[in-house]
Amino acid sequence: MNSKLVLESLDLKDLQDLANRLVQCLPSRLTIGLVGTLGAGKTTLVQAISSAMGVDRAEVTSPTFTLLQSHRGGGQTLHHLDAYRVADEDEFLELGVEELFDQEQAWTLIEWADRVEGVMPKNVLWLELRIDPQPDRRTVEITTADHVLSQVLETALREMISKG
Ligand SMILES: Nc1ncnc2c1ncn2[C@@H]1O[C@H](COP(=O)(O)OP(=O)(O)OP(=O)(O)O)[C@@H](O)[C@H]1O
Ligand SMILES: [Mg+2]
Repeated sequence: MNSKLVLESLDLKDLQDLANRLVQCLPSRLTIGLVGTLGAGKTTLVQAISSAMGVDRAEVTSPTFTLLQSHRGGGQTLHHLDAYRVADEDEFLELGVEELFDQEQAWTLIEWADRVEGVMPKNVLWLELRIDPQPDRRTVEITTADHVLSQVLETALREMISKG
């Protein structure tokens, strides 16, 4: 079963609010696939999640050239990857991502994860960012095939959801 939540017209403050709620309500081991065009706000959302975890957001930059950056905050690890320059799923696996997916007390966030969709874990949380017609606003579509994650999200984000 696939569950989908749509949050429309989020400005940067709303995005931080969303990140805070995600960090509060979601399990301490999680993989998030970030999807969206160039400049949609994937790195910005990672920075918001980092800051919700207690990592200095200035530490979080685009990992396009290093492929993986890891940060510590609030007893948690945050792994930040970018699949944009990865040739294929095999090359992505060679980075050792499966070890990251299995790590306790760790969130693994992957920009351009749709490029390596076939090797994402089954219980991945997808966050797709779309640029809104209004300046500096984004629509965030949240999907997961995981029933427990989807229940938790619906409760935590109830008043943010514009349509489902
Ligand atoms: N509501 C918003 N949500 C997210 N980003 C926003 C918003 N409003 C403005 N922005 C700006 O849009 C830009 C998004 O850039 P960002 O680097 O996060 O995108 P990206 O999806 O990671 O791009 P890339 O594909 O190049 O990695 C930032 O400058 C950010 O400040
Ligand atoms: Mg980016």
